Amino acid sequence: MTSGVRRGPIILIGFMGSGKSSVGQLIAQRIGCPFRDTDRLVIRETGLEISELFAEKGEAFFRDRETAALRSLAGEQNCVIATGGGIVTVAENRTLLGELGFVVFLKADEETIFARVSRNQKRPLLQTDNPRQSLHDLLEKRLPLYEAAAHFTVDTSGRSHREIADEIMAASADFSWQVSP
Ligand code: S3P
Repeated sequence: MTSGVRRGPIILIGFMGSGKSSVGQLIAQRIGCPFRDTDRLVIRETGLEISELFAEKGEAFFRDRETAALRSLAGEQNCVIATGGGIVTVAENRTLLGELGFVVFLKADEETIFARVSRNQKRPLLQTDNPRQSLHDLLEKRLPLYEAAAHFTVDTSGRSHREIADEIMAASADFSWQVSP
């Protein structure tokens, strides 16, 4: 079997409010390639908003649909993919991400994330009595998972979407890996 080098999609991972969708759309626009979003794929496939899915079907159902969405992206090449903040919590997803393309962790500090997510009330996992504590606990659990899954980490705190996009595009230009054709 011969092997070749191919360039896969840029995949953005990171906590809610880390800017995955905004930065992802900006990169896609600048490269001139499609933008995909696992949350959007799940919404399209189920016909339900994320908050409705959590409320009506539960988190496990959502995670299952999220993995299906990720699987459906296998073989994608020239695109940018934004993922939901919890995608790294499922081991199979971490493997799929690594096989799919260039995985970039958008890192932000807790203060910055809290300020960003407090602006909208749509995130089911932060609809708790103490959202600040919930965020802290989730971040603590997930940080090592993002770091393990990523090929590259970019610090987003206090930086513009344009600066972040520039750094990711420069890093992705150096990234390629062996796949079987
Ligand atoms: C989630 C993050 C959300 C969405 C769902 C669960 C999480 O996506 O997938 O609410 O577990 O962190 P964003 O990261 O785009 O907000």
